[in-house]
Amino acid sequence: MEFQYGIPSQATFGHGVVKKVGEVLSELEATKVLFVCDEGVKKAGIVDKVQTYMEEKNVAIVPYSNVVPNPPETVLDEGADLAKKEQVEAVVAVGGGSSIDTAKALNILITNPTPINQYDGINNIKNPTKPLIAIPTTSGTGSEVTSITVITDTKQKKKMVIGGRHCGADIALVDPELTMGLPPTITAATGMDALTHGIESYVSNFASVPSDVNGLKAIELISNNIVEAYQNGNNVEARTNMLLGSMLAGYAFNSALLGLVHAIAHPLSVYCGLPHGVANASTLSYAMAFNARDENVQKLYRDIGRSMGVQVDGLSDVDAAYKTLEAIKSLSDQVQIPTLSEAGVKREQFDVLAEATLNEEISIMANPTKVTKEDVLEILDLAYLGSDIQDIKYLQSTVK
Ligand SMILES: NC(=O)c1ccc[n+]([C@@H]2O[C@H](COP(=O)([O-])OP(=O)(O)OC[C@H]3O[C@@H](n4cnc5c(N)ncnc54)[C@H](O)[C@@H]3O)[C@@H](O)[C@H]2O)c1
Ligand SMILES: [Zn+2]
Repeated sequence: MEFQYGIPSQATFGHGVVKKVGEVLSELEATKVLFVCDEGVKKAGIVDKVQTYMEEKNVAIVPYSNVVPNPPETVLDEGADLAKKEQVEAVVAVGGGSSIDTAKALNILITNPTPINQYDGINNIKNPTKPLIAIPTTSGTGSEVTSITVITDTKQKKKMVIGGRHCGADIALVDPELTMGLPPTITAATGMDALTHGIESYVSNFASVPSDVNGLKAIELISNNIVEAYQNGNNVEARTNMLLGSMLAGYAFNSALLGLVHAIAHPLSVYCGLPHGVANASTLSYAMAFNARDENVQKLYRDIGRSMGVQVDGLSDVDAAYKTLEAIKSLSDQVQIPTLSEAGVKREQFDVLAEATLNEEISIMANPTKVTKEDVLEILDLAYLGSDIQDIKYLQSTVK
């Protein structure tokens, strides 16, 4: 057995831990910070609160709120110039994955030459970065604990995955209270993204014991709480479990990597503008069903089903996998994940989407089965229609 496992961030989890941000900056002897967020998080009233906690400790703020979803490389140089001109000593990000990833990319460019595109891939960043504190407000990406930033290359039309040394946040303040006001549709999509992280890391070719332990616990927490968090956002326990689950899913996929669902989701965001969570959630059951042709994957799906509380004991591997797939599709339906058609994807785009999926090298490499363009087209078609699991033809030949 051989594996590598590591997490860049020191995480503090709990209700009210965001209040420590000023104290943490004082310990780092940082008196001036670049404060990265987006307009949605500002409107939710979170940014003002975090700013107060920093100002109470006499930290000067350089605000940067030009964050956009699926962050593109085009906004980065201006932010990095601002940070350099102001001579900030640290970076603080509050928001979802888009804000945290933008902050990570800006931090790289403060101490490394622009453009960001030259760092696409793993371990391409040479110079150490400023201390980065990540404060998540969605229970989704796990970016607060991963050594990855995902930035859209608008010219090449692809999502770059920049990772490795000098990329992760040093400190994560993971506070469920900040997720209490997340609207239901964002709760659903980001939560299904986190579930996808747990599932894809568990079946990945690069899975290891530590990624498996975190992945299965993440699946348990998210699958048992996502419907409640969606229907009753004020449920503190459900919100807490969702945020813990998404963080643990980050612990899992940071080393195990992802798979076919994310390989399809990235082009769906780049070419069709789908939010990352919606892109994953709408294709999850169908890409999982495709992978379920493999006997070893069927065994892994039994474990996933068991973590979700599905009754899989005494069933054959294929039947256990099938029951697990049905449970995933049922969760997706209960939180009203749209079909690709409802999300505005056009059939005419399938060809370019399928080509681009196969170019998502890292996720394709980590996926437990080989995939062709025809396979991707078939998955897109099922997700376009929102097909029921029992209508998937290639499962009918195997399942009793
Ligand atoms: N770095 C990683 O490890 C990693 C992993 C997975 C995905 N990602 C990337 O993260 C991005 C997606 O991040 P995301 O899914 O968290 O969404 P997001 O950051 O784009 O946020 C989605 C929306 O939710 C709003 N929002 C966030 N928190 C809120 C709150 N508490 N109350 C009200 N509104 C709130 C935001 O303003 C925004 O409009 C994608 O670019 C994706 O590729 C990164
Ligand atoms: Zn994701």
